[in-house]
Amino acid sequence: MKSLFVLLIGMLPVCLPAQNKPAYKEPFRPQFHFTPHHNWMNDPNGLVYHKGEYHLFYQYNPVGNTWGHMSWGHAVSSDLVHWQHLPLAIPEDDKNMIFSGSCVVDKNNTSGFRQKPGQTPLIAIYTAHIIPDKSKPDDYLQHQHIAYSLDDGRTWTKYEGNPVLDLNKKDFRDPKVFWHEPTKKWIMAIVLPHEHIVQFYSSSNLRSWAHLSDFGPAGDTSAIWECPDLLQVPLTGQAGKRKWVLINSQQYTMQYFVGEFNGIHFQNETPADTILRPDYGPDFYAAITYNNLPVDQDPVLLGWVNNWKYGASIPTSPWRSAQSLPRTLRLKKTGNIWTLLQEPVKALQGLRGGVVEWKNQLISGDLTFPAKGQVIELDAELIPAKDDICGVRLAVKGSQGLIIGYDAAKEQLYIDRSKSSNTYFNNEFAALLHSAARVPLEDGKLRLHLFLDKSIVEVFVNDGTTVLTVQLFPPSGADGIEFFSQKGGTRITTAKVWPMRSTWK
Ligand code: FRU
Repeated sequence: MKSLFVLLIGMLPVCLPAQNKPAYKEPFRPQFHFTPHHNWMNDPNGLVYHKGEYHLFYQYNPVGNTWGHMSWGHAVSSDLVHWQHLPLAIPEDDKNMIFSGSCVVDKNNTSGFRQKPGQTPLIAIYTAHIIPDKSKPDDYLQHQHIAYSLDDGRTWTKYEGNPVLDLNKKDFRDPKVFWHEPTKKWIMAIVLPHEHIVQFYSSSNLRSWAHLSDFGPAGDTSAIWECPDLLQVPLTGQAGKRKWVLINSQQYTMQYFVGEFNGIHFQNETPADTILRPDYGPDFYAAITYNNLPVDQDPVLLGWVNNWKYGASIPTSPWRSAQSLPRTLRLKKTGNIWTLLQEPVKALQGLRGGVVEWKNQLISGDLTFPAKGQVIELDAELIPAKDDICGVRLAVKGSQGLIIGYDAAKEQLYIDRSKSSNTYFNNEFAALLHSAARVPLEDGKLRLHLFLDKSIVEVFVNDGTTVLTVQLFPPSGADGIEFFSQKGGTRITTAKVWPMRSTWK
């Protein structure tokens, strides 16, 4: 009898229905960012809106918590905030790992993959990473492949005519494809990483591709280029007007160019001496935007919250890496330069608990805010005193905390994570504890709109003109919030803090 009891108890975790598993409660587990239930994730892939669902595919290792066996994981959401995990979408096979790429809705069946009336093919265009001789993993090739789904992304078939684009090159990857209405063609942006070139191709059927033009080298060429995206972004204050933005990643950071695209060439209008970054923190990479959004919806950007320098050793288990909050995009002109404005999607406001608010507080030294939490949204407006160094500390416990500071003399916003967490798990992480961006005040004011979600902070400065994303690994119970003004005299006009509900119940 006793042994039967022990046997039954031993089987319990296996027998429990999936929804009873106490998941998403582990140390450092983000509560309102997307993370896979378990195992390694990197780039967002195939972002596409279709029949009321936002699809998120992502670079995923189905068998481990470090990079490898790359395949496309899959989740869907109706609001970009609550996600439902779906089975692995496109697995690696004997010959190919499935690297980054994009997804399109082939409404007019240009690809010819439709089999029955009423089906709308979804087509994934991705890089097949091929290692012909497994004993020489560095002798690889990268070809572009496609796969199609006739059941709204639930199951996928790899096209038997692959590759659809092959330059017989080692490094040639990350195709982003979209429909270009004026030329009635599919356009692909894809990188030659070492050459620092984004190439453009066009196709009428997604199966055969013609080279159109090249862009680059330009801007930041200090590291290999990856994950390009070309899209139209609405202009603030000019209803109906848009400009083209070309985004790409450079191994550990990202940049973008603003200009025009005529269906063949991208004409850059960002001055040659200006480098624009969608994010100035160390933990935002490989970001791309959604295809096929409803016409009245602004573009939505999603990026991988991690860094190749130390990503494989961040102290999280049984998963590694998150996707950023989805950010809506607009362009604003400052002087003669168009810059991106990024705003977290409005649906996040549905997660807010009761607000705690301060109004008109003068700060001198440190001032503890009357709310706490490691899962919060904070929206504050400060009037920094002349030459002050001021800001807010999060995840505070004793002398520990993440500093989000403003150096008024230097007009610089900085994040210092040196006292926020365990930094010894990786030397590269320990060497990247400070990040900064130039932020001029607007009418003497600094607006800090930020989200702390256990091990991620995303800071949207001055209405999203500048954004910084940073990972931290604070001890449990480090949940204080503290404003500071080193010289004294900085004023907080308003500061609101909301506890945020978890989306992983
Ligand atoms: C970017 C990247 C891509 C590649 C993928 C492989 O983070 O290196 O260039 O397709 O990750 O996982």
